[in-house]
Amino acid sequence: MGKLGGSLLPHHTSLALLCLSLPFFVHSQCTKNPVIFTFGDSNSDTGGYAFGLGFNLGLPNGRTFFHRSSGRISDGRLLIDFLCFKILNGYEDFTNALYIIDIGQNDLAGAFTYLSYAQILERIPSFITEIKYAIYGVWQRGGKNFWVHNTGPLGCLPQKLATRSKNASDFDQFGCLKPLNDGAKAFNEQLRALCEELRSELKNATIVYVDVFSIKYDLIANSTTYGFENPLMACCGYGGAPYNYNASVGCGRTGYNICEEGSKYISWDGVHYTEAANAIVASKILSTNYSTPPVKFDYFCNT
Ligand SMILES: *[C@@H]1O[C@H](CO)[C@@H](O)[C@H](O)[C@H]1NC(C)=O
Ligand SMILES: *[C@@H]1O[C@H](CO)[C@@H](O)[C@H](O)[C@H]1NC(C)=O
Ligand SMILES: *[C@@H]1O[C@H](CO)[C@@H](O)[C@H](O)[C@H]1NC(C)=O
Ligand SMILES: *[C@@H]1O[C@H](CO)[C@@H](O)[C@H](O)[C@H]1NC(C)=O
Ligand SMILES: *[C@@H]1O[C@H](CO)[C@@H](O)[C@H](O)[C@H]1NC(C)=O
Repeated sequence: MGKLGGSLLPHHTSLALLCLSLPFFVHSQCTKNPVIFTFGDSNSDTGGYAFGLGFNLGLPNGRTFFHRSSGRISDGRLLIDFLCFKILNGYEDFTNALYIIDIGQNDLAGAFTYLSYAQILERIPSFITEIKYAIYGVWQRGGKNFWVHNTGPLGCLPQKLATRSKNASDFDQFGCLKPLNDGAKAFNEQLRALCEELRSELKNATIVYVDVFSIKYDLIANSTTYGFENPLMACCGYGGAPYNYNASVGCGRTGYNICEEGSKYISWDGVHYTEAANAIVASKILSTNYSTPPVKFDYFCNT
């Protein structure tokens, strides 16, 4: 695994083998259960990131579900935990494994801190090429099941809203930053095209593209429908409304504050989602309404 990740992935993404040791995957729907490998960032990392960098992600991370630090940056479970909960609980082989690709947010967010919008658009094809080689490399080694998540609305993250310079014309009707969301959309369009290309090229593979952006944007746009009260404010952070985010006083650092009910918040710490938001996103992903082609997750259980 280490070799695979190291050679195929850009250095700033982490590769983690997930879900094998977690206690709550016992209600699997599957008769045969695939191993899941994810290529992703801290949004889908159940501990590798913290471990790898020597971070101690203590409470309040984990307070809702684990009641202790779990290595996850959230109050509870991540998207990946909910997906695994539905499908995983054993070990198969490389070919029957499911590869979840969830890359993009860190690359884009990083790029936006030092590049102009125009420069970012220029940079996107190189991110897409990295993903292409990652998928291609796994496929050459016999992998055939790929589940590709597009990237979410970066411009709706409290961290971005609180730290970028403000210009009224930059905001959309829901209070998100348009340039960042446009960057995410441009990335997603190229990722969608890549999936289409790979689908016709890699005939013996199943490549599902999942529009996570639309799921998350709907969550923010229609937040009250889902029971959220503060779609653009971090539950855990510093500074109070409207975003409760301050880079120098992060969640868990001296002086931070925390909301009482994380279930009323989409954002946990300004960057990562709460367990409540992740649960809804997972259920929408599993509905196949946002998948192309609309393959059920369970399909991968028996391939
Ligand atoms: C798919 O085809 C490629 C090229 O023929 C091969 O290398 C790969 O092992 C095949 N994968 C599976 C799962 O059969
Ligand atoms: C704000 O946006 C307007 C309209 O796009 C533009 O003319 C102006 O230069 C921008 N101001 C700043 C500070 O970026
Ligand atoms: C908000 O919900 C309505 C009704 O379900 C839907 O038509 C609309 O597309 C949603 N908005 C966004 C931005 O997803
Ligand atoms: C963040 O908090 C510190 C400490 O209170 C304060 O000095 C600083 O101005 C804040 N930063 C922003 C961007 O509000
Ligand atoms: C998926 O789409 C169907 C048909 O439009 C709808 O009834 C269902 O509520 C949707 N499910 C989710 C989770 O959005």
